[in-house]
Amino acid sequence: MIETVHVPLGARAYDVHVGRGLLARAGEMIGPLLRRPRVFVVSERRVAGLQLDALRAGLGEIEAPALLLEPGEATKGWEGLAQTVEWLLDQKCERGDVVVALGGGVIGDLVGFAAAILRRGVRFVQVPTSLLAQVDSSVGGKTAINTRHGKNLVGAFHQPSLVLADVDILDTLTPRDFRAGYGEVMKYGLLGDAQFFGWLERNAPRLADDPALRIEAVRHSVQMKADIVARDETEQGDRALLNLGHTFCHALEAATGYSDRLLHGEGVAIGCALAFELSARLGLCAQEDPSRVRAHLQSMGMARDLRDIPGDLPDAETLLALMGQDKKVIEGRLRFVLARGIGEAFVTAELPAAEVLGVLRASA
Ligand code: GLY
Repeated sequence: MIETVHVPLGARAYDVHVGRGLLARAGEMIGPLLRRPRVFVVSERRVAGLQLDALRAGLGEIEAPALLLEPGEATKGWEGLAQTVEWLLDQKCERGDVVVALGGGVIGDLVGFAAAILRRGVRFVQVPTSLLAQVDSSVGGKTAINTRHGKNLVGAFHQPSLVLADVDILDTLTPRDFRAGYGEVMKYGLLGDAQFFGWLERNAPRLADDPALRIEAVRHSVQMKADIVARDETEQGDRALLNLGHTFCHALEAATGYSDRLLHGEGVAIGCALAFELSARLGLCAQEDPSRVRAHLQSMGMARDLRDIPGDLPDAETLLALMGQDKKVIEGRLRFVLARGIGEAFVTAELPAAEVLGVLRASA
């Protein structure tokens, strides 16, 4: 079974295919985009060891030279970008060619940015291999690298030409990586679809074992993202809803040194719980809403609070200051996502410091 979500962006429109066995059909799906039977694959060693042969087999007659980068966030910087761009030029990748990003969010963001600037823009296909990349980073055209000033500070909006989200690939994830990616799935229900959140409450604990449920969870998340991106491609408004939980998350990631003490999706999950806690404190939503978010995270075996993060964290004042350094600051003011209930998030410029401190202290 293959589900297709269309991202309707006029001349930049594309499809996201979600299903099982997509790698085996990569040639059939990517072939129509090609002017010659050759793609340029960029991946990282760990993922390539697991998936590159299957992708090449699926590409059949299409040649697929590959660049294998080092796994990890450090690759997503100037050096990794230069390596990728120079390799594509060495390979004589032309303006009409297609680059394939095979990997998680790091590879998707880096390769998407390399494609955006190579020869002033070549097309690229995302083959996301983590749950987080399948439901979030591979869709919507945000591409970027990190600099010493922070994460994702240099980049471009460059939409892929196709996304192949093969849910069978998710079998190779560790349970922790799978659960971390789930933080972004849950976020969609919380930000805009109470019914989907209810569906997740009933079904999410079986996602890791049931491919049909997995397809539905990924498809629904991608559909929600496609709808938001179609309304607001360059994040002038609504797209900021996708940052629910992210301001808390960015502070926690900075406080834990972007280490494996806290994976991004784990931080998003905790951030969502805290954003609902804050919304309840502000009288915006019922007190039972944050309790419901926490209960769901508990049923998924996921962290819900600051106290669940291993090791010491800075005090609440320091975390609040880190939240203020979020890159979504405009004219000195944060755009922060709060909620009037489950599925009813909204963007505000107000970050009520006293209440945020109260939420952080209660969670510590
Ligand atoms: N990951 C948030 C966005 O694509 O806007």
